[in-house]
Amino acid sequence: MYDNWEELEESIKNCKKCKLCTNRNNIVFGEGNKQAKVMFIGEGPGADEDSQGIPFVGKAGQLMNKCFEGLGIKRQEFYIANIVKCRPPSNRVPEQDEADACLDYLRNQVVLVKPEIIVLLGSTALKNILGKEYGITSSRGKWVESKGILYMPTWHPAALLRDENKKIEFWQDLKEVRKKMESLSER
Ligand code: URA
Repeated sequence: MYDNWEELEESIKNCKKCKLCTNRNNIVFGEGNKQAKVMFIGEGPGADEDSQGIPFVGKAGQLMNKCFEGLGIKRQEFYIANIVKCRPPSNRVPEQDEADACLDYLRNQVVLVKPEIIVLLGSTALKNILGKEYGITSSRGKWVESKGILYMPTWHPAALLRDENKKIEFWQDLKEVRKKMESLSER
């Protein structure tokens, strides 16, 4: 566990703990407000993220940004990271050994940010953070409290590109998050 961002990022840049390191152009460390109250966790980098080293800059990320704008919330307010920091080939779901190898880095990011709310984007984030017994279809939109952090599981933004109905639910879930953020800042 590192107590500063620079050492943590440096160790991920040199990471060879799993096979995803062999094809990466860039690690995708994470981006945003390092004192954020709200953190977003996705699955893993796609092609655009791998080439730019920034999370959620491709199609799915652009759609997520539009939702933020529509809701009057700013991406820069949040800290955004992924379960795995290197791109899985052909955008496949990270294998369990890959997620397991990478999870301590994310845990370290959570310890440094100290968020009050974590939005879990899709099944990979949900299962790796809260446990395999959770399913995204039944869990989305419902708050889960664990060890002093409030979790909101919702659809991965890439799923919205394939299914219009999920967009409405994603939007509702983000509205819940906005409401909760407002109530936290009033305390
Ligand atoms: N999908 C993810 O899960 N994360 C990204 O950073 C981009 C797309």
